[in-house]
Amino acid sequence: MKIKTGIDIIEIDRVKESIESTEGKFCERVYTEKEIEYCESKKAQKYQHYAARFAGKEAVVKAISSTLKNKYEISWKEIEILNDETGKPYVKLPEENTKEIEDIDISISHCKQYAVANVVILYK
Ligand SMILES: CC(C)(COP(=O)(O)OP(=O)(O)OC[C@H]1O[C@@H](n2cnc3c(N)ncnc32)[C@H](O)[C@@H]1OP(=O)(O)O)[C@@H](O)C(=O)NCCC(=O)NCCS
Repeated sequence: MKIKTGIDIIEIDRVKESIESTEGKFCERVYTEKEIEYCESKKAQKYQHYAARFAGKEAVVKAISSTLKNKYEISWKEIEILNDETGKPYVKLPEENTKEIEDIDISISHCKQYAVANVVILYK
């Protein structure tokens, strides 16, 4: 059994700038429909949630990087971060990336300036 972790921190203003300056193209490239729906539902706070998901995707890449043949093997949108009915976030990955994975957990936090995410992967 092997455990891998990944962590990422991001400035919320950088994500806000990327979203606003590309008129939706950044969102289209990085986030799934469900992720966009969730973040947009947060109205004025939405950039905190977009940034948290970006940090989450980066943290997932760090945690699975040793199992990828190359960094282009997985795209941002293939790493989906959703929330269960209690609000707890979870990660959805393409089937081909989960064959060796027993469990994956993510924790997210954000404040006015920064969003952070921590991912733990338990391999079979
Ligand atoms: C869930 C909770 C811990 C979030 O903490 P917070 O300091 O308000 O906010 P943070 O920025 O640190 O975290 C927000 C993230 O927490 C995560 N979160 C929400 N509910 C969660 C849950 N049930 N379990 C784990 N993570 C959760 C989400 O990922 C959220 O970000 P997202 O909406 O972008 O996905 C808090 O709102 C809460 O409900 N606490 C329980 C309070 C309580 O019951 N206290 C009494 C006992 S101490």
